[in-house]
Amino acid sequence: MEEWERWERRVQTAAHPFAYRLLSAAAARGPAVRVPRVGVVVSDARLAREVLLDTEGYTKTGPGAAAGLWTPVLGQRVLINMEGAEHAALRRRLAGLFTPGHVAAVCERVLRAPLDDLVRRLAAGGEVDLVRVVRDGATDVIRELVGLPDAGADFAEASAVLSSVRLWRTSLTGRQAARARAALARLSDAAVTAYRAGDESTVPGRLRALGLDEGEARGAVGVLLLTGTETLVSFVPRLVALVHDSGRGPDRITDALIEEALRVTSPTPVMLRSAARPGRLGGVRVAAGERVVIATLLCTRAYGPFAPRVRPGADRGPDPGPGPADLRRLWFGAGPHFCLGMPLAMAEIRAVAGALRAFPELRVVDRRPARGVLVPAYARLSLRAVQAGRLITRPAPPLRRPRRPV
Ligand code: HEM
Repeated sequence: MEEWERWERRVQTAAHPFAYRLLSAAAARGPAVRVPRVGVVVSDARLAREVLLDTEGYTKTGPGAAAGLWTPVLGQRVLINMEGAEHAALRRRLAGLFTPGHVAAVCERVLRAPLDDLVRRLAAGGEVDLVRVVRDGATDVIRELVGLPDAGADFAEASAVLSSVRLWRTSLTGRQAARARAALARLSDAAVTAYRAGDESTVPGRLRALGLDEGEARGAVGVLLLTGTETLVSFVPRLVALVHDSGRGPDRITDALIEEALRVTSPTPVMLRSAARPGRLGGVRVAAGERVVIATLLCTRAYGPFAPRVRPGADRGPDPGPGPADLRRLWFGAGPHFCLGMPLAMAEIRAVAGALRAFPELRVVDRRPARGVLVPAYARLSLRAVQAGRLITRPAPPLRRPRRPV
């Protein structure tokens, strides 16, 4: 097993020691396999796409899907627990927050100073924990996007509760739900105040102008905070570790390499659906109300080891192509629930990668996979810069300015 693969495996098994092995064993038995007390496990990209696109046959709201987890904390109408016309209408209203131009401007405004600081610290020979940099940056970007003054301890509390959920738990205990709900309610109070004031220079005011009611605006703030941080905290440090462990430097990170790293890491390792009616999936009979576990990571990893395509001079060029049709960006989902935040995710990933490009030789000097978390991640990934084969130990001469972060 190669170095990158060994570390990726450690990240997965630290997060879900039991589930990772169980899903891998199921995948070895076939593309769709019934696992008692878990559901029908899908590990084939074509079948996964079939489920995600068939919204009549498979829903996010039925028994076994994750709506039971989110609804008590975030409310009834927060995209990830909605279907049909109502879901499409709310998505349309929120889409304005995620246009490439808007997210690029927000990232530039929020991330410029912390990324300049990251570059300065590395250039001065300092040790930097990339997990912390990404967590702070991603939280600040979402705060700016949804118009919250300060996320602080309440956000940490809400994400800690949700991070402790196991891979296919579909409800929280009463105490967990109450803790997470209270923390998020305190957080979104500020959003509600801005909503009531109706000032369109604030995002909640804009959500009101877009037609969201107060409950929807509060829920939108909560769901974006939760979906917009853990995924990036998972992916960006793993991208840098992957590049390091496969013998490359951050200057080799191109859009094509980012896509390939997303394929082999697949930060949200499963997607849950509930069968709305009896049917067949890859030869397996599925009963109405049965849970379908799409093992995204296993679907995408079936396409081979990490192997970025080399396209000289193409580092910021157009996408090199979607790859096999069934796989196409499955790591961001497919169908009506396809990741709403993808443009923001890509802008933030490129911003951090752009800053690190100033250090073609970057060493991972310490790391620790996070234990027992919902989204597999490093808890710490400490980096130091290297010059001429040696760690920089004294202030380095000024570096040329890194590329524009976004
Ligand atoms: C590398 C980073 C990310 C990955 C891999 C990722 C992956 C995904 C996936 C797989 C889904 C679909 C889940 C399903 O169908 O069950 C999804 C949905 C979603 N994502 Fe992301 N995501 C990322 C970053 C973000 C960011 C930065 C945001 C910003 C707020 C975000 C917001 C959302 C939202 C709101 C949904 C729900 C969409 C809906 O149900 O209509 N994501 N994401």
